[in-house]
Amino acid sequence: MPLYEMESIEKVGKNKDNNLVIRGECLSACAYLKENNIKVDLVYIDPPFASGADYAKKVYIRRNPKVDEAIKKAETELNNDDLKAFEEKMYGDVWNKESYLNWMYENLLAIKSVMSETASIYVHLDWHIGHYVKILMDEIFGEDNFQREIIWDIQVLSGFKTLAPNWVRGHDSIFYYSMKEERIFNRLIQPHTEKYINMFNRVDQNGRKYMIAHGSKRYLDELSEGKPLGDVWNDVMSFQQQPTSAEKVDYSTQKPEALLERIIKASSNEGMIVADFFGGSGVTAAVAHKLNRKFITCDVGINSIQTIRDRLKSNNAEFEILEVKDGVSLYRNPQQTMDKLKSLIQGLKNEDGLDKFWEGSIQDSKYGMMPVYIPNLLEGTGRILDTRLINEIIHKALPDLPDNVKKVIVYYIDIEDKKAIDDFIKEQNDTEIEIEFRDLKQLLSEVVIGDEVDYEIKDNEIEVKHFASDRVQQKIDGYNDKMQAQAIKKNEEYNPLTISDEGLELIEFISLDCTNNEGSWKSDSEIKVEKNNYVTINGEKTKSYWNGKIAFTKKPLRMKIRNICGDETIINIK
Ligand SMILES: C[S@@+](CC[C@H](N)C(=O)[O-])C[C@H]1O[C@@H](n2cnc3c(N)ncnc32)[C@H](O)[C@@H]1O
Repeated sequence: MPLYEMESIEKVGKNKDNNLVIRGECLSACAYLKENNIKVDLVYIDPPFASGADYAKKVYIRRNPKVDEAIKKAETELNNDDLKAFEEKMYGDVWNKESYLNWMYENLLAIKSVMSETASIYVHLDWHIGHYVKILMDEIFGEDNFQREIIWDIQVLSGFKTLAPNWVRGHDSIFYYSMKEERIFNRLIQPHTEKYINMFNRVDQNGRKYMIAHGSKRYLDELSEGKPLGDVWNDVMSFQQQPTSAEKVDYSTQKPEALLERIIKASSNEGMIVADFFGGSGVTAAVAHKLNRKFITCDVGINSIQTIRDRLKSNNAEFEILEVKDGVSLYRNPQQTMDKLKSLIQGLKNEDGLDKFWEGSIQDSKYGMMPVYIPNLLEGTGRILDTRLINEIIHKALPDLPDNVKKVIVYYIDIEDKKAIDDFIKEQNDTEIEIEFRDLKQLLSEVVIGDEVDYEIKDNEIEVKHFASDRVQQKIDGYNDKMQAQAIKKNEEYNPLTISDEGLELIEFISLDCTNNEGSWKSDSEIKVEKNNYVTINGEKTKSYWNGKIAFTKKPLRMKIRNICGDETIINIK
């Protein structure tokens, strides 16, 4: 497990329970817990399903407080789906089976290393890869420690599905294992249904209700409070079954609280630590908190961490946000980091003749075509330049290259031991091809430009006058170009998304730190402009629109502004 430095990003409340929200990969979060001797009592994970789908987030452009009337009028005519929005990729779930299983194997081993002796783990997957992972879990946790496969019935009978010439597919699988047989298990009882109770419809001479079952009398007043829950759950509604649920926080793979409530109640007790290393919308942490458990959650995506943070803050939870400093979380999420990287390497273009090990090639006047290798951040592979990777490059990738290749470029995130690698190359590289190493972190750090803010401080409030975000503007321009091209093809008109001169509709969240002028953030006052344009003030939802201001009671030292894509900029206030 690679051990990276962690930086405290924010502290919410006193956090006596040491609840943690970690931005970074599952592997790094586990390495941190292990290093700090933190053991968890229950793990629920709902990792990517290898579903072949890309998950996107709709980014909503907010209402500009400066052009109040015009927008108010527009809002009365629009519903949420018509609000100005564009899409942004959150994570791709396209894997080849082998790399998924290698990746999952490492994750599960890391998770096991931080589970307490009596801990349990629930791994939520579906038909795509679930049963292969079950075999991995047999190996890692031991076949004897397999407890149950829970079937979560999420069947939605859309017209399209009912036409399928097959059984209608409609369940997820949750594999439940424990570290050993002695584990926490609180039996949960499902109350009898009204239909069942109504079956006691006979009355004896004493006025007692009963029914006849298997030839004998069964009395209603002797009935148990319910039946123990089985491993097929068809009474927990998914969000496909209840798309307008108030619980939804706009995270595409969000699971319902009722599901986690069941798992947490059954497999942990109050005060224990519940962990989720693929946190998403933060459902596990939120439910753990409601049920008086401690929580640790983690995710690689910035949108996830912000969703979790805002959700927990609204639930009055106390916690600390840590960020893994591994150099790859610089750009929102691994998917977008990969996309960004490709656009940053000057002259990089796809090369049909090359194996897919190479990301493409650069044309050079001296060396000609130079193939380029970039670690795959989505699969977490090849991040560390070690002798295993160099071995693969020297003995598999280089010999397969066309004869005219004289040099290749290999990007890395971390080097294990530069000298050992150089010696290894000298010793083993039988080809004439030179290998140049380049630092990927360097490339990324050069391009992250903060957003620009103009503001005015009056009495006890700050008024934001102007906001500009090059990063968001580029996204909007790209979206407009794409939609325009599609419209031209269909001979239709496209009305491009535009941003006002003030740019305030690009702001999602503002927080003032009136306590610290550096280090971990302490939010003393905050506003969030929700996607429906209502403003949440210090975690309390309101039905008012944002007026472009944020109030404070103590002199602010720093202001943090989050744009609608999730990038954050911190400004020191003089
Ligand atoms: C299916 S979603 C989890 C949804 C969550 N259970 C909920 O109810 O909101 C999977 C999450 O895993 C995150 N993820 C993907 N690879 C990861 C990794 N290596 N470490 C941590 N999180 C990762 C993604 O960003 C995504 O938010």
